[in-house]
Amino acid sequence: MNHAGVEILEKKRISVVGTGYVGLSTAVGFAGKGYCVITSTHELEKASLVNKGVPPFHEPGLAESLARVVKDGNLKCVVGREEAILNTDVTFLAVGTPSQSDGSIELQLIESSAHEIGEAIKKKNSYHLLVVKSTVVPGTTENVVKTALEKSSGKKCGVDFGLCMSPEFLRQGFALYDTMNPDRIVIGGYDQKSGDTLEALYMEFYAEKTPPIIRTQLSSAELIKYASNAFLATKISFINTIANMCEKIPGADVTQVAKAMGLDKRIGPLFLNAGLGYGGSCFPKDVKALIAYSKKLGYEPELLENVEKINATQPLKAVELSEKLLGDLKGKNVAILGLAFKPDTDDMRETRAIPIINQLLKKQAKITAYDPVAIPKAKTILKDKIKYAKSIKECLKNSDICILVTEWDEFTKLTPEDFIQNMHQAILIDGRRIYDPKQFSQKIRFEAIGLGK
Ligand SMILES: NC(=O)c1ccc[n+]([C@@H]2O[C@H](COP(=O)([O-])OP(=O)(O)OC[C@H]3O[C@@H](n4cnc5c(N)ncnc54)[C@H](O)[C@@H]3O)[C@@H](O)[C@H]2O)c1
Repeated sequence: MNHAGVEILEKKRISVVGTGYVGLSTAVGFAGKGYCVITSTHELEKASLVNKGVPPFHEPGLAESLARVVKDGNLKCVVGREEAILNTDVTFLAVGTPSQSDGSIELQLIESSAHEIGEAIKKKNSYHLLVVKSTVVPGTTENVVKTALEKSSGKKCGVDFGLCMSPEFLRQGFALYDTMNPDRIVIGGYDQKSGDTLEALYMEFYAEKTPPIIRTQLSSAELIKYASNAFLATKISFINTIANMCEKIPGADVTQVAKAMGLDKRIGPLFLNAGLGYGGSCFPKDVKALIAYSKKLGYEPELLENVEKINATQPLKAVELSEKLLGDLKGKNVAILGLAFKPDTDDMRETRAIPIINQLLKKQAKITAYDPVAIPKAKTILKDKIKYAKSIKECLKNSDICILVTEWDEFTKLTPEDFIQNMHQAILIDGRRIYDPKQFSQKIRFEAIGLGK
């Protein structure tokens, strides 16, 4: 039976602990395929939003899909863990794993969730499988999750209940699409039965669209996620290094360099976009966590330390370029286009806009920013330190310089005339390389990351 009382065929019942990007996308994905899904959160307000079919954050396509599965009775959200565990067969754990001040990950939520799940498993007579989807450093699933589960359930892992680690690779902005169309699935199994149970579930879920499935030990599964994100972050810091060189080479343009590099099959074209660096809830946190973890192992991960260092200074290039064009920034009106860490999300975590804005404020510039969706979240962070515009036009009005920070689709359509008509003086810094330098430099003063003069 689904939550609306409609009988469904013998599919496993799914619960998801954590109702963020990963948890809710997983839940909606399963519910959309007719599985009976219960998501669990600790926030009453979030549960009531989800039960009305409203996602608690902006993610393209999620609102429509969530509304549909809630209406169909295939998904409901509860506060607390017990109801979710007792009424389902498989639980995906997708709570946050934020950074601590030393860069290592905070495992308190993982541990407390595992304890609560264990307490519910204690009351069950049937086999239950827990799948860790949160990004956790090697050893966490075995040493933290398994230990907490066994302690609070009084039962034995691999006998009375199963445990897997199956990292998530979705991209915000494409969360639901990626959930339904992953490039690969990684299953780290504590024991054979746990891995087999999860593999069977994935094969039923993806059917003929099942991607390659990699079966590993728990620790390899945990490391695969970090290695993947650290590699992508390395690609970004690498191309930004080349971009910074290009700026000193007459006639060089990093976009041409990257395009030609990307045509080499051994390199590939993705994640070679030079700009103001990476942000978001994953890359910065995961690179930091991998560095901290590696140091704990007694290995100094110099490559990754430099990836991070380059990323920390890269956004400040926008301010350097502004000073190069305007001189002293004190009292200058700066228009910021884009606040979210990337397009198609309202997520402000580790967005490059924040260090840029903070540096500009230090220089006593006056800032007006526009973002299609992230302003409500930005206001909770930046408060009244800057002005918020309701449109691109309002943002540009009377400004002395514009910095393009996030490559939202609506910004890519702007022409030199838009800047000329609205700004006090048309000066643009393209922090994401979305404009054609030839077209723009002919009509306005134009600087871009990785563009030699
Ligand atoms: N966002 C991504 O693109 C992405 C992609 C792959 C993997 N991951 C990983 O998946 C995990 C979850 O990421 P996310 O982006 O979905 O996180 P998120 O911040 O969007 O959501 C985390 C969820 O954890 C739960 N939570 C937070 N505080 C809690 C508390 N005090 N008690 C109980 N539950 C609480 C909430 O339901 C919250 O929504 C992280 O480990 C992350 O690194 C994220």
